[in-house]
Amino acid sequence: MKEDTYILAIESSCDETAAAVVKNGREVCSNIIFSQIELHKLYGGVVPEIASRKHIEKINQVIKEALLCASLSLEEVDAVAVTYGPGLVGALLVGVAEAKAIAYAAGKPLVGVHHIEGHIAANYIEHQDLEPPFLCLVVSGGHTHLVKVLDYDKFEIVGRTRDDAAGEAFDKVARALGLGYPGGPKVDALAKEGNKEAIVFPRAKVEGNEYDFSFSGLKSAVLNYLNKCEMQQIEVNRADVAASFQYAVIDVLTTHAIHAAKQMGITKLALAGGVASNSSLRGNIQKACKGEGIHLYYPSPIYCTDNAAMIGAAGFYAYRNGVRHGLDLNAVPNLKIGQKI
Ligand code: KG4
Ligand code: ZN
Repeated sequence: MKEDTYILAIESSCDETAAAVVKNGREVCSNIIFSQIELHKLYGGVVPEIASRKHIEKINQVIKEALLCASLSLEEVDAVAVTYGPGLVGALLVGVAEAKAIAYAAGKPLVGVHHIEGHIAANYIEHQDLEPPFLCLVVSGGHTHLVKVLDYDKFEIVGRTRDDAAGEAFDKVARALGLGYPGGPKVDALAKEGNKEAIVFPRAKVEGNEYDFSFSGLKSAVLNYLNKCEMQQIEVNRADVAASFQYAVIDVLTTHAIHAAKQMGITKLALAGGVASNSSLRGNIQKACKGEGIHLYYPSPIYCTDNAAMIGAAGFYAYRNGVRHGLDLNAVPNLKIGQKI
């Protein structure tokens, strides 16, 4: 019997054209990412049409490279996994169409993967001991969720943002500070030079669900602060603004995640998504976890932001659980976590 399972994974939901080969859901044989950031930078954000066109241009090359780096032929792959939502519809379609064509031509099973379930699965790559159940704080450009990972394919959302995602708030504040796109890493870097207690920005309390988040008020407070300084001709210390804003986001994320873990009696907490690569967030949550006896997991930065290795990890568990998609698989831009299509 063949012992190892190799998944060829494809990710194209936003502005990274990515392919990877993952062995048994935990070992990355190759992880190729073509980032379109330089292209979208000119416009201050992702331009969906440009993203789709670039995906079409790059996807074949990226997949070829992923197989080459893994020293594997298509015939040796067990299944093709692909992100089919959520994300930009045109961008998703490129990956989905490519995966369907490869699966059909090579006679391999096709496994559709939820992008956020991929982000969560990124934690399995470097933490061989991590198994569900655990709590996961998913913080990306489009999503902020507290998710109970009950099993590899079973998720329960316990908290979510009511408005902006954490990454979106980072990107908008970065733009207001003139830092450019993508804002998260730039705010992260600038904040290191600032005082996080210089300005007290609001921490939103949300009615209804104590684990829900809201970041639009915080974003407006930063913009109002900058406008007020401009009108009163007060010189802005941008590093202090970045540090104080970042601290407000991190404070809320940490408090909610730790509170939820304690309330639910969960002793394993994982971070996922682009914002999970934020150095201060990692440090702050790590400190809080230590005090509460919670074990913290997070992926290396390369597996936090969009990549296909995470889709290969999630794809492996879906494949193992019998998930198979037909050639009628479509891109689902607003796919919900745990939704089976
Ligand atoms: O997970 P991701 O690559 O894409 C989505 O699925 O949305 O996340 C991208 C987001 C962007 O908003 C980016 O600014 C943010 O993650 N990000 C960061 C950092 N690195 C990326 N935010 C804060 N600190 C960082 N170091
Ligand atoms: Zn993502």
